[in-house]
Amino acid sequence: MFESLKPVAMDPILGLMAAFRADTRTTKIDLGVGVYMDDHGHTPVMASVKEAEAQLMQLETTKSYQGIAGDPDYNQRTLELLFGAGQSILNSGRIKSIQAPGGSGALRVGAEVTQRARPEAKLWVGVPTWPNHIPLLGSAGFEIEEYPYYDRDTHQINTDAMMETLRQVPAGDMVLLHGCCHNPTGADLTHEQWDQIADLALERGFIPFIDTAYQGLGDGLDEDAYGLRMMADRLPELVVASSCSKNFGLYRERTGSITFIAESPEQVEIVASQAMAVARQTYSMPPAHGALLVSLILGDQQLRANWEAELAEVRGRIQSMRSLLADNIQNNVAGIDFTHVKMQKGMFSFLGLNTAQLDHLREEFGIYIVSSSRVNLAGVNSNNIDYLSSSILSVLK
Ligand SMILES: Cc1ncc(COP(=O)(O)O)c(C=O)c1O
Repeated sequence: MFESLKPVAMDPILGLMAAFRADTRTTKIDLGVGVYMDDHGHTPVMASVKEAEAQLMQLETTKSYQGIAGDPDYNQRTLELLFGAGQSILNSGRIKSIQAPGGSGALRVGAEVTQRARPEAKLWVGVPTWPNHIPLLGSAGFEIEEYPYYDRDTHQINTDAMMETLRQVPAGDMVLLHGCCHNPTGADLTHEQWDQIADLALERGFIPFIDTAYQGLGDGLDEDAYGLRMMADRLPELVVASSCSKNFGLYRERTGSITFIAESPEQVEIVASQAMAVARQTYSMPPAHGALLVSLILGDQQLRANWEAELAEVRGRIQSMRSLLADNIQNNVAGIDFTHVKMQKGMFSFLGLNTAQLDHLREEFGIYIVSSSRVNLAGVNSNNIDYLSSSILSVLK
């Protein structure tokens, strides 16, 4: 039967990673892969996670199945992390969260449930967006529509074009928004833009679907949640997919959540039962380890303080690499404006280099950047910053 299948092309980023691994130059730099790296170029296990793992070794008494919704403490604590402890939405009875296998699993469950609710709904995604959004959400049944998001010439959000398109979105459609640290552009919505989109959602009747995979890597845990907290306060319905892959460094533990806000407590119970049915029919139950660690960290004052301090260090390091790189380039080439790299948030930005320049960087200098010119600023460190800056300058000149 398998003879009818055609091979699927490898994700270009995986091809780039393979080429990077095969490169024997000691000066090579990987700015492609989307994981955090410290100043030594490693993706570390956070010390707070290590400590939680040591505690879990003692506390864990069974590996029996967890429920379909995952760990109840994890669900409650991540709700508080996302929406803010003590916020009125958390006591409204209209909100429900279940554990999911990473942000990707959460997006998928959210998409399948909303498709069940409204099969004719389309999903509007900004251009550009995380490349996996379209296959991940489209294969759940959504017809995808696009709205303009980022202007590569000005390096800013194209507010007028975005709002003009969103003004046309029909009632009942879903609009995908990035909670913070936009991937791939690093260009985040301002508070004013978030407020305007909420106004439009109320006026038009579309439903925002927020993907928040980087809370705490932009301006701070609370600051990065402005949009989703404001929308949770103002809108009757909302879907939020969240991930602990980046902010807890738990990539391979597949730890995420899907949260629904419905018009009434009765409705949200039905939505949650549908989400659990989707889970049961696909992966059955979410993996436990990462969620138990997150729950331990968020539930313990000292562990939480340690984790927040580590996350602040991650955030600060990315920001300082952004500034260093932008200044190094800008101060050395007249007419080049790299201010956007300094101002944008999270791990990613577009450098705005063309294909020939990217090929030149890879072939001559061993610097690996994906074809959109999106760079992971966490791949920059105090050892490679000078070499990186001078290499970029030489391809710009
Ligand atoms: C915007 C965005 N959403 C979701 C995810 C998925 O994260 P996870 O690894 O938790 O599935 C990513 C990961 O890169 C992402 O960049």
